Amino acid sequence: MSRQTQAIIHADAVLHNFKQLAAMAPQSGSMAVIKADAYGHGAVNIARILQHVSSRFAVAIMEEAVALRDAGITAPIVVLEGAHQAKECQMAFQHNCILVMHCEAQLKWLNACPAGKRPHIWLKADSGMHRLGFPLNELPRIVKEYASLLSDETVLATHFASADDTNNPFTQAQLSAFEAVVAQVDSLQKLPLSLANSPAAANWPTSRAKWNRLGLGVYGGRVSTQSDTGLSLMPAMTLRSSILAIRDVPKGEGVGYGQTWVASRPSKIATVGIGYADGYPRHCANGTPVMVRGKRAPLVGRVSMDMITIDVTDIADVSMGDMVELWGEHISIHEVAQCAGTIDYELMTRVSQRVPRIVKYL
Ligand SMILES: Cc1ncc(COP(=O)(O)O)c(C=O)c1O
Repeated sequence: MSRQTQAIIHADAVLHNFKQLAAMAPQSGSMAVIKADAYGHGAVNIARILQHVSSRFAVAIMEEAVALRDAGITAPIVVLEGAHQAKECQMAFQHNCILVMHCEAQLKWLNACPAGKRPHIWLKADSGMHRLGFPLNELPRIVKEYASLLSDETVLATHFASADDTNNPFTQAQLSAFEAVVAQVDSLQKLPLSLANSPAAANWPTSRAKWNRLGLGVYGGRVSTQSDTGLSLMPAMTLRSSILAIRDVPKGEGVGYGQTWVASRPSKIATVGIGYADGYPRHCANGTPVMVRGKRAPLVGRVSMDMITIDVTDIADVSMGDMVELWGEHISIHEVAQCAGTIDYELMTRVSQRVPRIVKYL
C-alpha cells in the first residue's frame, strides 16, 4: 500500500472563501491569484474550481500562464511581474495574457512588437513597498510617452507592504501617496485601479478598486492581525499523513536526530510519514500541534526528511495507520507557521510535489 501522505484540497472552501472576499467588495472585480501553483494547492485545480466566479486569474510569470493555457484554462491571465524578456511580449499576446509592466525596459520591448500584436498591459506603480513599479513621480511622464501602448484594458496597479496589519499606518500612507499623484494628472485619473490584495480587501475598504487581486484569503490563510474581520474563511488544504510505527520510550530517552526531546515520563511515541522533504517545516518546534483521533498531540524531536515523531501517550487506542492532520480543519496553518517561525504563505507554497493533491468536492 502506498504512503498515506496527502494534501486534500477542499473545493467548497476555495469557492466559499473567494465568494466571501468578493462579496466584501461588490463594486470591484475580483481575481484569484494562482501563482506558485496556487500557493501549493494546484493552479489548474484552483482555476477549475473558480472558473465560474473568477473572471480572470493572476500569476507571477509567463511560464505559469502558459501551463494554465496548456491545461485548457481560457480566462484572461494577468502576469504580475510582466515580461522578463522581450519575447514574452509576443507570448503574452498569443496566450491572451495581460502583462503588468513595472519598468521602462519592458515598455521598450513592447514598443518593438508590431502594432496589432501587442498584449494588453497594466502599469505598476511603486507607492512605497520599493520592490517593483514606476516611482509615483514618473507616472505622468510614462503614461504620456507610452500612450500608444495603453488600451481600454489598462489598469494602474500598486501593492501594499503591510495590509494585514490593521495597526500599521503605512497602508494608509501608501494609499494617500498614490491617490495624490493620480488626482493631479488627468491621464492617470482615466485609468482604472488595482490596489488590494486579500489582506487589503479585508482590512482597508478604501483600497477596494476596479480589480482586487485575491491570494491568501482564497486559501483560508490569515489575512488580518485583527480577529474581527467579519469574514469566516475556511482552510482550503488539509495536510495529512498516517502513523507508521508506535513505540514505548522510557523516561530519560531522547527521540530523533540530535535527541532534542527527551522523555520526561514513560511515553508512547508515534512515527508519522511526513517530513521536510514533503514541505512540513523542519523548524517546527517541539510542541507543534498535530491532530490524531480528534485530539491534539505535540510534535516531539526534530522533523526528519520523511518522518516526524509525536507524543501520543495521552491519546487512547492510537494504532498504526491512524490518520494525522498536520494542518487543515482542526489545526490552523497559522498556528503551525508560528511554531515554525514563518508565515502561512510559506507553508502552503512549500508542500512538495511528492505530496499528491486530492481535490475533494462536496
Ligand atoms: C502583486 C501581488 N498582488 C496580489 C498578491 C496576492 O496577495 P495575497 O496573497 O496577500 O492576497 C500578491 C501576492 O504576493 C502579489 O505579489
